Amino acid sequence: MSLPIDNWWQYGVIYQIYPRSFQDANGDGIGDLEGIIARLDHLNDGTPASLGVDVIWICPFYPSPMVDFGYDVVDYTDIDPMFGDLATFDRLVEEAHRRDVRVVIDFVPSHSSDQHPWFVESRSSRDNPRRDWYLWHDPAPGGGPPNNWLAVFGGPAWELDERTGQYYLHSFLKEQPDLNWRNPEVVEAMHEVMRFWLDRGVDGFRIDAVHYLLKDALWRDNPPATEPPEGGKSFGPFDQFEHLYDLDQPDVHGVVRGLRQVVDEYPGRVAIGETYLFDLEQLIRYYGSELDGLHLPLNIRTLHVPWEAAAFRTSVDEYEAALPHGAWPNYVLGSHDEHRVASRFGPDQAHVAAMLLLTLRGTPTIYYGEELGMLDVDIPPELIQDPFGVQVPGFDLGRDPCRTPMPWDEGPNAGFTSGSPWLPLGPDYPERSVAAQRDDPASTFSLYRRLIWTRKESPALHKGTYTPLDGVPETCFAYLRQSDDQRMLVALNFGDAPLNLSLGELGEEVQLRLSTYLDQPSVALDAMRLRPNEGLLLELV
Ligand code: NOJ
Repeated sequence: MSLPIDNWWQYGVIYQIYPRSFQDANGDGIGDLEGIIARLDHLNDGTPASLGVDVIWICPFYPSPMVDFGYDVVDYTDIDPMFGDLATFDRLVEEAHRRDVRVVIDFVPSHSSDQHPWFVESRSSRDNPRRDWYLWHDPAPGGGPPNNWLAVFGGPAWELDERTGQYYLHSFLKEQPDLNWRNPEVVEAMHEVMRFWLDRGVDGFRIDAVHYLLKDALWRDNPPATEPPEGGKSFGPFDQFEHLYDLDQPDVHGVVRGLRQVVDEYPGRVAIGETYLFDLEQLIRYYGSELDGLHLPLNIRTLHVPWEAAAFRTSVDEYEAALPHGAWPNYVLGSHDEHRVASRFGPDQAHVAAMLLLTLRGTPTIYYGEELGMLDVDIPPELIQDPFGVQVPGFDLGRDPCRTPMPWDEGPNAGFTSGSPWLPLGPDYPERSVAAQRDDPASTFSLYRRLIWTRKESPALHKGTYTPLDGVPETCFAYLRQSDDQRMLVALNFGDAPLNLSLGELGEEVQLRLSTYLDQPSVALDAMRLRPNEGLLLELV
């Protein structure tokens, strides 16, 4: 039996745009909103020649000193001139909607820039009316930071303001002071920010660091960690402590409910959240006890599952089993904070990963350039931009390699800019580019297009149930997707050796819908053969 689904954010495919790197229209070497408009047809022109995505999520474009490349906001209701202006933004929304593409924007409520007028006021004196908009604290009794909390981006999470003699909290960079979400004035101001964008026609928000919105009201020390962080990547020194008190506080769900209520004031909008949590119970709570929290708490758990069939199956099965009734799943394999999929799993397996992402039950998010199989780009030390890698050396945390410009064609600077790109292009850009892949029926871009358009017109894939298959070889992950009127079988070979499967019990007749080789192998259920690094999508008839 298939589940009733009728929301665009359930059946659609999300595409994440890092605006600095997508397309530069004004020649300053940095992507912009005009550039996104110019490339909307790549994303969806209504025909299978385009990628066919249904939703774009655009990373921050607000005025910002760009210390964390836009995640340090100085004005929540404007556009940084390097990206354009509000009129361009309105045109972007209009042009996207004309193509039936929804627009989700990044909303960064947990911290602002230290240059934001709110913080400038807050910092100006202890009795400034905005003092309590941020998290100020006296030094510890013997001097020094109020407690042992650490910033994700290195060093203590507290910075002393010499002039007023108190510390402020910053969970990320010291240029990103945390806002005080226990102050109703902050809550109201941020709700107004959301209404500003919803009134402009955005279809929803990806809410940054949503699990950081509240901290322990008693400011207790975090205990030392007794085990490495569950399932996640290493954040270096930040991992020394168990993060009991500085994030994911039980009362944050009331704040999340408030955000959702604002979104619900407008019909058909979505609340997506960056819930960077690997513990399933913690993650799932962001749906809300009555499904009154986030529509989609981003399931980033799959970002760090080792690329092994059994490990992925376990991750998907556990997630499916933990979802509350009526909660809609989602999957993420790449982002602006992670290594590229093709670099993590290898270029051959990147095709298998694409089939996995686009055939599981739930909303997939594709990071820009994954549809071309983009690889991490080595950044020479003198060109490094990301403060994360610089401030926490030795842990491979720099995010520049996955943020390099999108290669559009074989020409100078890959058609990304007429100026000098802010990060270097990958050396493989001529053959990796959209232009080089567009007419190649066996390219990564062709695979993504075929997967997305097949998913669109397949009820089993976009809304059917998920049933994993037992008894398959160790390097295989296979599952059925089934709706009232369609049964699809997905069989993925996670290895580089051929595999034989016997699935005769599923029926007799089967039709090939897609091989990741993008050719037409003959298939039989009782004697199925998967080539090295091959995924097959079959319809059982
Ligand atoms: C999560 C974002 O994805 C990341 O890029 C950013 O640096 C931090 N939040 C801080 O805003």
